[in-house]
Amino acid sequence: MTESHNLPSRTEDAGGAFGPVASAVSLVLMACAAQGLLGCRGQQSEQTPIVPIRNMHAQPRYSGQSVSEFFEDGRELRPPVAGTVATTHEVDDLVLTGEGPNGWVSEIPTKVVARNSGLTALAERGETRFNIYCAPCHGYAGDGAGSVNRKAKVGAFAAPSLQDERIRHIPDGQLYATIANGIRSMPGQGHTLKVDDRWAVVAYVRALQLQQHLVAQD
Ligand code: HEC
Repeated sequence: MTESHNLPSRTEDAGGAFGPVASAVSLVLMACAAQGLLGCRGQQSEQTPIVPIRNMHAQPRYSGQSVSEFFEDGRELRPPVAGTVATTHEVDDLVLTGEGPNGWVSEIPTKVVARNSGLTALAERGETRFNIYCAPCHGYAGDGAGSVNRKAKVGAFAAPSLQDERIRHIPDGQLYATIANGIRSMPGQGHTLKVDDRWAVVAYVRALQLQQHLVAQD
């Protein structure tokens, strides 16, 4: 028998009369602490929060609509540098407006056709856009028989047939600009149709006109 063998083991000690009481007390204390911490949630405070590991929690920053003491114009929200364009912005004015130095472009710019995998693909895309954004007024066949025209009985303000002899002969650029900006009582669709989609609608309107014209000639 060794001496250590006669000493009461740690387990026996902890398992004595105070063991369960101590465990219960510490449980209650932990519950109180948790309650105390959770109880703080949702309460507003003017104090800076205590963040033990700061990482990048607090950094100097600018907010929109706030006053800056650093910049001369006093604005925190900085205006973009002059000449800045969004990466999605069309930089070719001719493609963007449908108008060149010599007036309306007569045909859909070739670069638009090329970047949309050809005229057929462009017109197919245009068909989906036309049926959403033009057909309600101009009709699915572009003949002016749209549901708005039929139901609203708009008379003088009715959307015309796109088969109209004059409209069949306006340059592609002018048709594009009509879609983008609207004309007289027609609202512009530039906010809903992106540049290439407007050209796509031009391609589809041309296809419709060609088809209906051929049908009419038959
Ligand atoms: C809310 C109804 C409405 C929608 C949607 C609409 N149009 Fe029109 N559109 C009109 C009306 C009305 C006119 C006649 C404007 C006038 O002469 O006062 C018109 C005129 C036109 C003209 C003739 C312009 C000219 O030179 O006289 C074209 C081309 C045209 N629309 C194409 C389109 C295309 C393409 C779309 C779809 C992107 C479209 N429109 C969407 C109502 C509409």
